[in-house]
Amino acid sequence: MQAGIRDIMIISSNDHIDLYRNLLGDGESFGINFEYRVQAEPNGIPESFLIAEDFISNRPSCLILGDNVFHSSTLSSILIKCSKKEIASILGTRVKDPSRFGVVEISQNGEILGIEEKPLNPSSDIAVTGIYFYDEDVVLRTKELSKSPRGELEITDLNSLYLREEKLSIEILEDGVWFDCGTYNSLLECSNYIQAFESRMNNKIACIEEIAWRKGWIRDEDLEKHANKYGNSSFKKYLINLLNHENY
Ligand code: G1P
Repeated sequence: MQAGIRDIMIISSNDHIDLYRNLLGDGESFGINFEYRVQAEPNGIPESFLIAEDFISNRPSCLILGDNVFHSSTLSSILIKCSKKEIASILGTRVKDPSRFGVVEISQNGEILGIEEKPLNPSSDIAVTGIYFYDEDVVLRTKELSKSPRGELEITDLNSLYLREEKLSIEILEDGVWFDCGTYNSLLECSNYIQAFESRMNNKIACIEEIAWRKGWIRDEDLEKHANKYGNSSFKKYLINLLNHENY
């Protein structure tokens, strides 16, 4: 949504897909379109492009991993920049523990020199985050991949194909925080961060009703309808407050 994308497919396992469908619906009340599809086996991240082939329908697309949480004042403008590029684009950020992630080495002028998946001896501290922008050929390129020793199609292999053709660029997220909530500790850290931020600031992180409303995709009445679904809760008060302080 922050990138201005309004056609969104949510892919999850058979056990979980209906939880998302029940939570978010078809997206109409957010002024967007949500579709849902199952990834039957954990065959790796790029399989999502094969699952979504007809949905992508030879258009450029963006993929975000469900366990990635971003909070940054520059995120929206970076995403919009990536979405306008002719070539593929990934988002990097400096981290303490690069070995847990895909890692990129970049030149002085920001070009990608190499990319590796979870290297034991990382060539830099720049981790590849879980937002990827690709051109209309992503499905074709995914079909060229074969499974890695851990039995999955690897997103780093897909990015390497783009890099080999000099069609991969990177933007670095310089401010804010990024979490890959793939471990119990990182999930808790992320929850603590959001709780601390939201309890101090009168501002929510990733409130999709608010984002849709600020983008002008839904009207004041629609936001009010969302608010009224939440009884007498603080979340309802937050949404109503937005309407009362439109210009803040
Ligand atoms: C995946 C990717 C890795 C990337 C990370 C970002 O790792 O394979 O390149 O840095 O997501 O969250 P996974 O979380 O599947 O181990």
